[in-house]
Amino acid sequence: MRVASNMKGKICMITGANSGIGKATTLGLAEMDATVVMVCRSQKWGEDAREEIREKTGNQSIDLLIADLSSQKTIRQLVIDFKHKYQQLHVLINNAGVLLRKRSETIDGIETTFAVNALAPFLLTNLLLDTIKDSAPARIINVASATHNWSHLNFDELQSKQNYDAWTVYSQSKLALVLFTYELARRLKGTNVTVNCLHPGVIDTNIGSITHVEHPISSKSFNKLRRGAETSIYLATSPEVENVTEKYFIGKNPVKSSKESYNESFAQRLWQVSEKLTKLDKV
Ligand SMILES: NC(=O)c1ccc[n+]([C@@H]2O[C@H](COP(=O)([O-])OP(=O)(O)OC[C@H]3O[C@@H](n4cnc5c(N)ncnc54)[C@H](OP(=O)(O)O)[C@@H]3O)[C@@H](O)[C@H]2O)c1
Repeated sequence: MRVASNMKGKICMITGANSGIGKATTLGLAEMDATVVMVCRSQKWGEDAREEIREKTGNQSIDLLIADLSSQKTIRQLVIDFKHKYQQLHVLINNAGVLLRKRSETIDGIETTFAVNALAPFLLTNLLLDTIKDSAPARIINVASATHNWSHLNFDELQSKQNYDAWTVYSQSKLALVLFTYELARRLKGTNVTVNCLHPGVIDTNIGSITHVEHPISSKSFNKLRRGAETSIYLATSPEVENVTEKYFIGKNPVKSSKESYNESFAQRLWQVSEKLTKLDKV
């Protein structure tokens, strides 16, 4: 097996980088000498995590951009801020995610789980696509979940207005992310930009915790978190997958995702709905 390449000179962006799997992924990429742009919503948690990663790895090329991905205006500002500083983006990892016990709506009036887990990756990726294509070979990685297997995309209830069950809503958002991954990969054929998604395993992180008051860089066993980051790091760095696209990975293996996730007309319809909800159709 070929080992992961040295990532010096490669610019990687990762969302939800201050805790859990995102932080462990950032650490792994930093160890390989990549320039890593951490996207976090809390300045303090972001700075604490960045300091820890810089200290642990000696890699000073760890940047921090602050953005609450539930706000489309903030995502647009994040992209402006990024493009102001960087001309290239070789790896984008859409890692941030939420599982919320109670229904809530974002500032844009969209159900929060769907907004953060599905629409934010859609908007962020599309707004960065020109830079990503110009940086090819490049890779886009979406952190999905095996829970998508038990879901069905209900276009009449994408925002769960009638019924709200945390796991059902979470699973649907992850199915949407898998459908987005495959549709984007099809649209990017021939550009030398790959798009894949993954299930990281079941890892004890902050996601779904009842109070979410625990400091994100506290007690979770770092070895376990590293295990959760393995597939993201593999897809971001390994020469073995440089030409692999439109796949769903568990560990280092491409595996079958749910039957519905391969439905191309669903994926196209979801693309159109996502464009409308993020106002990308007006650009
Ligand atoms: N852990 C598992 O077993 C498991 C299994 C399958 C899939 N996943 C997926 O793995 C990814 C990482 O989750 P994790 O398990 O590492 O949980 P985590 O520790 O809670 O990490 C989630 C990250 O997303 C960030 N985030 C949430 N909402 C955000 C927003 N509105 N704007 C910006 N950032 C936001 C969080 O920031 P804050 O710290 O500020 O909240 C945090 O950094 C998620 O997509 C999750 O769905 C996890």
